[in-house]
Amino acid sequence: MNRKWYKEMSVYHIWTRSFCDSNGDGIGDLGGVMSKLDYIKSLGVDGIWFSPIYPTPNADYGYDVADYRDINPEFGTLDDFKKLLDEAHKRDMKVFMDLVVNHTSDEHWWFKESCKGPDNPYHDYYIWREGKGDKPPNNWKSIFEGGAWEYVPEINKYYLHLFAKKQPDLNMDNPKVREEVKDIMRFWLDMGVDGFREDVITFISKAEGLPDGIPIPVACGIEHYLHGPHLGEYLDEFREVLNEYDCFAVGEGPMLSLKDAVEFCSEGPNKKLDMMISFDHMNADGLLVEWIPRPFSLKSLKSNMSKWQEAMYDKGWNCLYLENHDHPRVISRYGSEKFRVESGKMLAAMYILQCGTPFIYQGQEIGMTNIIIDNIDDFKDVSTFNNYRLFKNLLKFSDERFLKLANRASRENARTPVHWSAEKNAGFTTGEPWFKINENYESINVEQAEKDPNSILHFYRKLINFRKGNDLVIYGRYKEYDKNNRRAYIYERTYKNERLLVMCSFASRPMTIKAPAGYNLEKGELIITNYDGATIKDNAFKAKPYEVRVYHFK
Ligand code: NOJ
Repeated sequence: MNRKWYKEMSVYHIWTRSFCDSNGDGIGDLGGVMSKLDYIKSLGVDGIWFSPIYPTPNADYGYDVADYRDINPEFGTLDDFKKLLDEAHKRDMKVFMDLVVNHTSDEHWWFKESCKGPDNPYHDYYIWREGKGDKPPNNWKSIFEGGAWEYVPEINKYYLHLFAKKQPDLNMDNPKVREEVKDIMRFWLDMGVDGFREDVITFISKAEGLPDGIPIPVACGIEHYLHGPHLGEYLDEFREVLNEYDCFAVGEGPMLSLKDAVEFCSEGPNKKLDMMISFDHMNADGLLVEWIPRPFSLKSLKSNMSKWQEAMYDKGWNCLYLENHDHPRVISRYGSEKFRVESGKMLAAMYILQCGTPFIYQGQEIGMTNIIIDNIDDFKDVSTFNNYRLFKNLLKFSDERFLKLANRASRENARTPVHWSAEKNAGFTTGEPWFKINENYESINVEQAEKDPNSILHFYRKLINFRKGNDLVIYGRYKEYDKNNRRAYIYERTYKNERLLVMCSFASRPMTIKAPAGYNLEKGELIITNYDGATIKDNAFKAKPYEVRVYHFK
């Protein structure tokens, strides 16, 4: 397998607004990140990915970019960022930016120019069409806000927005737009940034003629822009820029197929991206999205993880994650709040020891959980409000019923401020926090976790450091065992003559876990576990709730 630095690193993901506030305005900022750089480094990670930190009107908290070459003044200045970059590099940590180029903010000056009409040189930077009579150009629906077209009466045309109204889609078919994207990439790479996470990059090419889509209430038309006709070409163009630098790119692909990911990430001259963010394993308790819940299915989680592990091996590379700013907290989903510490550790080992680059989202390392919000006005996110309208209008949900669902499904669960201590406002801010703080901060916080040798935090450190420089964990081949087991996840990693056996209980009651044929547990070294590794009998052990055992064989 081709060795690369980006395969060997672990990455910490920061959603700055909720990370740490340094100036008391209640909003996390770069000063806050700077003050925690040593903490981040102490986890053993090798890089930081920042969700967008550019100027933005916050219609989608930064995923609506108003200026690609500056820093959101709520977070600091470009100079602050340069200092942070420098300090991160001094600590041997790389820095990755979010490249959001499927759309901009409607407050980006390109869009303001574009609205002036067809004669304006920026008009074709966006996707404008005339309506059909008094109807929009086609039946597409946005992902965040009703119809996908917004009418601008001054020029009697509609613009396309796959997400919120304030996020007009760029017209990537316009070569000038692609040149702009490449310039933006160079701007950050020349400054010293080490790569990008490319937002919904699989949506950037839309089908010729923008045909009507299969009528569904959300994302209608998606079949005409998910891996559109020119996606490969455009990614190749962007790759040429990446190839001029020693950097890496991870592409986000909602509803991405494994086939496409293998094609885009396979080593060789046609490689477009280094890895991709798949969503398959994030639907083990939902049908396509968290908003259509179903009971957690371990079999679904396992089969999706194994599918990606097997298909990518020797070809591309996996991006490993269980949490980010788009999903509720994983302990509340796939683990158990009752067995928070145990399940938090088990989940960490389960994914970090797979083949790929692990990403750890802020707060995940201390086992933060979902929040309970009991008033619709306390939510902040455009997608929660969209779902509110949909569930109320189409399914006649009461507020109470919706709140129950939102508390389980909303991505805002991951956007509550990080708990640094048991002090007021969890030590996140001295001011009024921009978003509600989870009430459990007094017991779940970094300060407490630092003091407790058995904390989830120390377990993450152990795992990340165990993976570092360890060929077996980084490059070893993956194989799953006992696939039909509904309560245990068992897999091995093999490299040369070494083997690692990872056995995870997903049960809240004791259960027997047996080693696969060919393994003798007595001969292995138990190197990681979240309990005391009590007795083995007949090559099996009685796993306690959410127990994980990792055995090493030479
Ligand atoms: C994916 C991002 O992760 C999400 O937060 C955002 O809302 C959409 N893309 C639109 O940019």
